[in-house]
Amino acid sequence: MIEVILKKAQRTHSLEKNEIIQLLKEPFYINCPLFCAADKVRKNYVGDDIHLRGLIEFSNYCKQNCHYCGLRKDNKNIKRYRLTEKEIINVAKNASEQGYKTIVLQSGEDLYYNVEKMIYIISEIKKFDVALTLSIGEKTYDEYEVYKKAGADRFLLRIETTDENLYENLDPEMNWNNRIKCLTDLKKLNFEVGTGCLVGLPDQTLESLADDILFFKKINADMIGIGPFLPNKDTPLGHLEKDNNNFELAIKVMAITRLLLPDINIPATTAMATFNKDGYKIALQSGANVIMPNITPDKYSKLYEIYPEKFSVDETPEKTLKTTLDIIQNIDRTVSKDYGCRKTNIRN
Ligand code: 5AD
Ligand code: SF4
Repeated sequence: MIEVILKKAQRTHSLEKNEIIQLLKEPFYINCPLFCAADKVRKNYVGDDIHLRGLIEFSNYCKQNCHYCGLRKDNKNIKRYRLTEKEIINVAKNASEQGYKTIVLQSGEDLYYNVEKMIYIISEIKKFDVALTLSIGEKTYDEYEVYKKAGADRFLLRIETTDENLYENLDPEMNWNNRIKCLTDLKKLNFEVGTGCLVGLPDQTLESLADDILFFKKINADMIGIGPFLPNKDTPLGHLEKDNNNFELAIKVMAITRLLLPDINIPATTAMATFNKDGYKIALQSGANVIMPNITPDKYSKLYEIYPEKFSVDETPEKTLKTTLDIIQNIDRTVSKDYGCRKTNIRN
């Protein structure tokens, strides 16, 4: 039965909700039929190259209050920091000299970086030979448009969950429909758009995760990042136990996403690597083709504490890169030398 569903997915890249749920119920083990199928589709459509994106976490201030996240504004136990515009540009410059072809600028929703500051940062970074991804939260259509014109190429905004009630319970001051609007606006503006979800939130069901996957397909996302939920004690969900099932389920969600969106970019996420010491490797062999090594200066990166014991938090950016390259070599994959756009988006 599972074989029939996997054959159909590999042939048509589409599945019914009940078929996705069946796949999510399959036992987790390395090289299980689901992961082998996802790995095959990955190889056929995006090849053996792995794209490295240098991640700069430039501010941990956030005006939002998501129940799961350590950067939430009510968390008084976190030391806040901001990189100056010059610092950000400098980190990006060094990364481009090290060979990174994509820079990702990530922060909490921090109004300190107004439009003028962001335009400056974007246009300076675009002088280096890199693609630029923003991950800075919900903005207006006009603001997104200005950033696109300034040179930003891609934008990451996870839907977190497609269950509207769950979303608004966990992100009390946020509006699910506005998040959808942001994603639609970004698509309209021709950004390469990344979204994704958390896996293992309280009250989240397999039905709901299947809806998330179908949503990724429906909006034709260019990138999907899946994060297994890790409880952070300084948040309202801090009483929950770390649950390894979240990791296993997240890898399954990722593998099914690869089956349905065969040519997109899918990272092995930091949360996966945090859960399991072989998290990157397992993800890269179950559908993923991207890693986002952290290039934030050391003293700041350990303060970007969305969840505890973040992978690579005690390492320098150089050591993180070395660890990443070792993993890639170890599984006979190669490092991409191009910008790593979605294959179908490359226009000659
Ligand atoms: N565990 C795992 N991922 C988390 N994120 C926020 N809090 C957690 C957590 N406790 C993810 C969200 C957000 C991204 C920046 O971090 O999906 O989009
Ligand atoms: Fe802020 Fe994003 Fe964390 Fe929510 S998930 S508190 S918006 S950084």
